Amino acid sequence: MYFDESVLKSDEKVSLTLRSLYAKNGYTRFKMSKFEEYDLYSRNKDFLVSDGVITFTDTNGKLLALKPDVTLSIVKNSKDIKGQIQKVYYNENVYRISETSRTYKELMQTGLECIGDLDDKDIAEVLRLACESLNVISENWSLNLSNAALLSEILKEIGVEDIKKHEAMKAIRQKNTDELNRILAGNETLAKYLTASFASPKEAFEKISKIAVKESSKKELINLTELYNSVSNPEFRQKIKFDFSIVEDDGYYSGAVFKGYIDGIESPVLSGGRYDRLMKKMGKNSSAIGFAVYLDFLERFEDKNASGRDSFISVALPKGRLGEKVYGMFEAAGFDCSSIREENRKLIFENKEKAVRFFWVKPSDVAIYVERGAADIGVAGKDILEEYKPEVYELLDLGVGQCRMAVAAKKGFKDDPAKTLRVATKFSNIAHSWYAEQCRDIDIIHLNGSIELAPILNLSDVIVDIVETGKTLLENDLEPIETILPISARLIANKSAFQFKKDKIETIKNGLNKQTQARNKI
Ligand code: PRP
Repeated sequence: MYFDESVLKSDEKVSLTLRSLYAKNGYTRFKMSKFEEYDLYSRNKDFLVSDGVITFTDTNGKLLALKPDVTLSIVKNSKDIKGQIQKVYYNENVYRISETSRTYKELMQTGLECIGDLDDKDIAEVLRLACESLNVISENWSLNLSNAALLSEILKEIGVEDIKKHEAMKAIRQKNTDELNRILAGNETLAKYLTASFASPKEAFEKISKIAVKESSKKELINLTELYNSVSNPEFRQKIKFDFSIVEDDGYYSGAVFKGYIDGIESPVLSGGRYDRLMKKMGKNSSAIGFAVYLDFLERFEDKNASGRDSFISVALPKGRLGEKVYGMFEAAGFDCSSIREENRKLIFENKEKAVRFFWVKPSDVAIYVERGAADIGVAGKDILEEYKPEVYELLDLGVGQCRMAVAAKKGFKDDPAKTLRVATKFSNIAHSWYAEQCRDIDIIHLNGSIELAPILNLSDVIVDIVETGKTLLENDLEPIETILPISARLIANKSAFQFKKDKIETIKNGLNKQTQARNKI
C-alpha cells in the first residue's frame, strides 16, 4: 500500500518511530480508555505532574476523570506474577495543566513501562531505550540521570526534618545553593551534593562518596554508577550526565530517575524513573521502571545541525532601574554591549564577539521569557518567582534590588477576625498562600499598580505589596504590619538551555557572583 510520509507531522513521525522501536525490543502495545475513575488520582495526587484533573460524572453516578497520566492505569492493571516481566508501550493523549500556559491541554505521550521481577539488565535496557528515544528526535540531546533513593538516604543521614526536607528538595530542584545553605543553616552537605552534578562519573562518585557515608546511601551511589556503566554505546555515554537537581517524590520513586532534553526545546521531552514505592502503595509486590516522551513539544521544533544552532547566550533583563544596575554587573563580568548605552528605543542588543544578546523586558515578564526558552537566562525579582513559580533554575542571589514583600494598612488598623479580610495586591498567589497558612478568610482584590490607594479609599483593609524604602507607605499614612518575604534579584536559567550552554552560563554566573561577594565584604 502506498503511504505518503509527508502527510505526517513531526510529532506523529516520531511517535510511529518510537512505537516500532519499542515493539522491536519486545514491548507490546497497551491501549486504554481515555477515562479512569477519579479515585485513582485522588489517592496518588503527588505522583501526578500537574494537580489539575478534569472530572465528570458517569451515567452510574461514579466520578470519572480524563486521564492526566498513563502510568497509574498501567500499574493498576498489572499482575504480580513471580518470575515474570510485563513490558508494555503506549501512545495516548493525556489531559493536564500545561506547565507553561497554566491551562488544560490535551498532550500526546508515548512511553513504556517495564514491570515485574526486574534485574539490573532490565533497568539498563530501559535507560538505553530512553537514550534511543531521544536519538530518534535529534542528535543534540542530553539525558540527565540521578537516583531518588540516594537523595532520600542523604537527607536521612544529615537528619533534615520533614518540614525542611520539602523546602530543601525545592531548592535542589532549582539548583538554588544560596537557598539550600540558608535552609540548612551552614550545613553545606546538600550544596556539595548538588555541585557534583555534571561532573565526570568518576569525579561525581568521589564527591558524593564524601557525603554519602552510611552503607545505605553508598549502596545507592554504587547502583547509580553501575547503571551508568551499563551503557555500552560511547556516544550515548557522552550524552548522559549525572544531574543531582532531579528530585522526584521519594514516596513513589525508589531508584534511577532521569530527564531527557533536546537542544532547541525549552522543557524536558522525556521523563522517567524506577517507581517500586508506587507499586507498593498500590498493593503490588513487583518492581517497575518506565518513561514517557512528551510529543507535544515537537510541533514547532526544527532540528538544527551544529552550524545552524544559536551559540549566543540570550539574557532577559528587567526594564528600569534594576535592569540598569544588573546590566552594569554583566558589563563588569566581561559581557558588555556598548550599544545598550546609546539613547534609543531598541529592545535587543548584541555583542557578536562575546556572543551575548540582551533583551529589555517588563520585570514581571522575565520569568516567562526564560521559562519558555525565548531567553537562556534572565534576572527576575524573588517576588515574581514566588508569585508565578516558573520552572526555571534559580542560580544566584545577585544581592541587588533588595526590598521585602509586606502586609501594610492604615495607621492604627486593627484586624477583626470576625470579618473577611479584604486584601488588595498585585501578588494574588503570594497573598493567598500567606493567609491560607494562617487559615484566615480573605477576599483578594487584584490591582495592577498604586496599591497604596486601596485602603485609603476603603477598597481594602490591607495591602500585600513591595516595600523598599517605605517612603510610599509613609507619605500615604500607611504602615507595614508584617514581612512576608525578603526580596532581591535572582539570576535564573532555562532548564534546557542550561544543559547545552552550561559552561558559558556558569562563566557568567561566576563573574556576577564575584561582584556580589565583593559587595557583601564591604
Ligand atoms: C513599588 C511598590 C510600592 C513602591 C514601594 O511600586 O508597589 O508602591 O514601589 O517603594 P518604596 O518603599 O521605596 O516607597 P512601583 O514603583 O513598582 O509602582 P506601582 O505603583 O505601579 O506598583
